[in-house]
Amino acid sequence: MIEEAERIKNLPTYLFVEIDRMKEKEGKDLIDLGVGDPDKPTPVHIIQAMKDALGEKENHRYPSYEGLLRFREAVAGWYKERFGVKLDPETEVLTLIGAKEGIGHLPLAFINPGDVVLTPNPGYPVYQAGTILASGEPYMLPLLKGNDFLPDLDSIPESILKRTKILFLNYPNNPTGAVCPVEFFRHVVRFAERHNIVICHDATYSEITYDGYRAPSFLQVEGGKDVGVEFHSLSKTFNMTGWRIGFAVGNKEIISLLGKVKSNLDSGVFRAIQYAGITALASDKTCVKEMQVVYKERRDILVDGLDDIGWRVVKPKATFYVWIPIPPKYTSIEFTKTLLRHCGIVTTPGIGFGKYGEGYIRIALTVDKERLKEAVERIKGLQL
Ligand SMILES: Cc1ncc(COP(=O)(O)O)c(C=O)c1O
Repeated sequence: MIEEAERIKNLPTYLFVEIDRMKEKEGKDLIDLGVGDPDKPTPVHIIQAMKDALGEKENHRYPSYEGLLRFREAVAGWYKERFGVKLDPETEVLTLIGAKEGIGHLPLAFINPGDVVLTPNPGYPVYQAGTILASGEPYMLPLLKGNDFLPDLDSIPESILKRTKILFLNYPNNPTGAVCPVEFFRHVVRFAERHNIVICHDATYSEITYDGYRAPSFLQVEGGKDVGVEFHSLSKTFNMTGWRIGFAVGNKEIISLLGKVKSNLDSGVFRAIQYAGITALASDKTCVKEMQVVYKERRDILVDGLDDIGWRVVKPKATFYVWIPIPPKYTSIEFTKTLLRHCGIVTTPGIGFGKYGEGYIRIALTVDKERLKEAVERIKGLQL
């Protein structure tokens, strides 16, 4: 008899696996606003860099564990230019097989059984899953509208803080679309120093911003690099979700320990992909600006369209997600099913991001304008 390990039993089914099952059952002309996977192609100059790198036989061999120094230098260069933060590419940058991989593995470097990890709720499910896989205990930090979707760190009981090793944060935020002021990061640094906690800030959506807003880096604030690391991804910034490349930057001890875990589990990112990543980070960022314009237009079509039918939805300043409160008579799963059955629209139920996501659904702006207009029309016809 094959028996699964306790830590696997404790893992929920990955949210989007369940949604895919629901979609298969429906099968009609669906408008998929579920998973946050950019619909536009990777920019051509990045694809060309990959093609060029493929011809070099050196690139077909095992890559180095920590990533090409040239890739890490490109990361450091981008950080300096974008955030004014100086990083040592040798010790303060680590290449990842996507941010998900680094986030999922990080708790293995710090957590002993029973140690606590503070995880935002609603939140990207991997913070919790990585904690459970490391035999740690996730402690939910509610992200509520009344708090501008920022966690209330001062309300965490002392008994929990004593056992806490890691705090995950994520701004601009998935799923709420919220952003955070730099002052909050300053508060987090003091909190981390006081309680000796490793800060892991997930900045995957830092480049998807609108209306002149520029997202800050956690490492920009004084003391940030002493207490934490920041995760980034090329997935959303450059429409490269399938390529699997991201990076962690910041405190060199934390980077080194994450690197130690990884060197025992994976063998790095295909070198040709890293060369494409260098081109992405080091080239002119017109493609990023164009991407922002595309999502902004879509955001406005959706939010203004829903506003016309009386749905009061906040326009996010960042991310390609819109976090929508639903009528109280529905659970978020029921509402998702209603939209799927009656409108052929796939959305994500808030509960899928944790208990405090109940009462909301998330829409991803990853279909073109015409399809979004069609989605709004279909929703207008819905009898609630
Ligand atoms: C908050 C957040 N962090 C990390 C990731 C994963 O990014 P990557 O594709 O680099 O693994 C995602 C992807 O959806 C995300 O929403």
